[in-house]
Amino acid sequence: MNQKFANDIQSGLSVAEKSIPYTYFYNERGSWLFQQIMQLPEYYLTGCEISILDTYKDELLDCFKAKKKRFNLVDLGAGDASKTKCLLQNYVEKGVEFTYTPVDLSTSILSALSESLDAAYPDLRHQAINKDYWEAMDDLKQNSSKSERKIVLFLGANIGNFTYKESVDFLTTLKSYLNPGDQVLIGFDLKKRPEIIYKAYLDSKGITAAFNLNLLHRINQELGGDFKTNYFRFYPYYNPQTGELRSHLVSQKDQTVKIEALNLEVKFEQWESIHTEISKKHTIKEIENLAAAAGFTVKKHFLDSKAYFVDSLLEV
Ligand SMILES: C[S@@+](CC[C@H](N)C(=O)[O-])C[C@H]1O[C@@H](n2cnc3c(N)ncnc32)[C@H](O)[C@@H]1O
Repeated sequence: MNQKFANDIQSGLSVAEKSIPYTYFYNERGSWLFQQIMQLPEYYLTGCEISILDTYKDELLDCFKAKKKRFNLVDLGAGDASKTKCLLQNYVEKGVEFTYTPVDLSTSILSALSESLDAAYPDLRHQAINKDYWEAMDDLKQNSSKSERKIVLFLGANIGNFTYKESVDFLTTLKSYLNPGDQVLIGFDLKKRPEIIYKAYLDSKGITAAFNLNLLHRINQELGGDFKTNYFRFYPYYNPQTGELRSHLVSQKDQTVKIEALNLEVKFEQWESIHTEISKKHTIKEIENLAAAAGFTVKKHFLDSKAYFVDSLLEV
């Protein structure tokens, strides 16, 4: 049994405002569902970020190798690296000297990624790390050479899962693992017409709903829960003032769920919810404040043609 998962579920479901941490989305089925989400036309984030990386791949390369020859492209929460592959393809073709280090908690997604990299780019130097962000950054700090520049990617609006304070803490911790001149490229989803944001999450095929309900399946499988997922309904809610899209699983009736491994009975009243995720939408000003609060310099913001999304390049 994954003890941290057990502890987090116990504490998240034993309080009045129930929640499940978003990090538990990505078991094998969750990673597969997220890949389906990325292909939905209404989930504009993927297409926008791919177009940014594709348009600016050469300019980014000039920034990455400005001061030192070799660099290590460290992809935090790499997933299937479908966006990063735009850069990899181009840099391999150009014979650029670099190493690619995808980091992810999900074992299944990382082994599929390593296989696909070997098949597509036999000349690429890559070394996956199947660990949490900070354990991976610690390994890299111990083992990497000072002459190699670290370029950390944090793509896919992953940072949107954090509150403002958590984002500052994340960037401050990240900076403690970096040397002067190292860079971080972060994908931020931007504020835009609220309907566009809302539709990206309440998709017509119900895949985002299945992705959220998969958390309950996971509790059933790994902790002996008896959640009936059809008794819960996915509800995303966008607040244009805070820029937060909050995802919930709402109980459709009074019910009691048993979780055997935790020796826990969880009572739900009708319409009570479990909060699952924040997907924060930013403004450029907020990104600049965030970078400054964590002690980074903003090198450049790379936007897509509709200004829906930005990849911001920060430097230590
Ligand atoms: C939203 S997906 C993004 C994937 C990819 N970067 C993209 O843009 O398509 C988030 C990924 O981060 C991984 N992840 C989440 N929390 C993590 C953590 N604390 N340490 C390592 N990986 C994590 C998940 O397993 C998942 O594959």
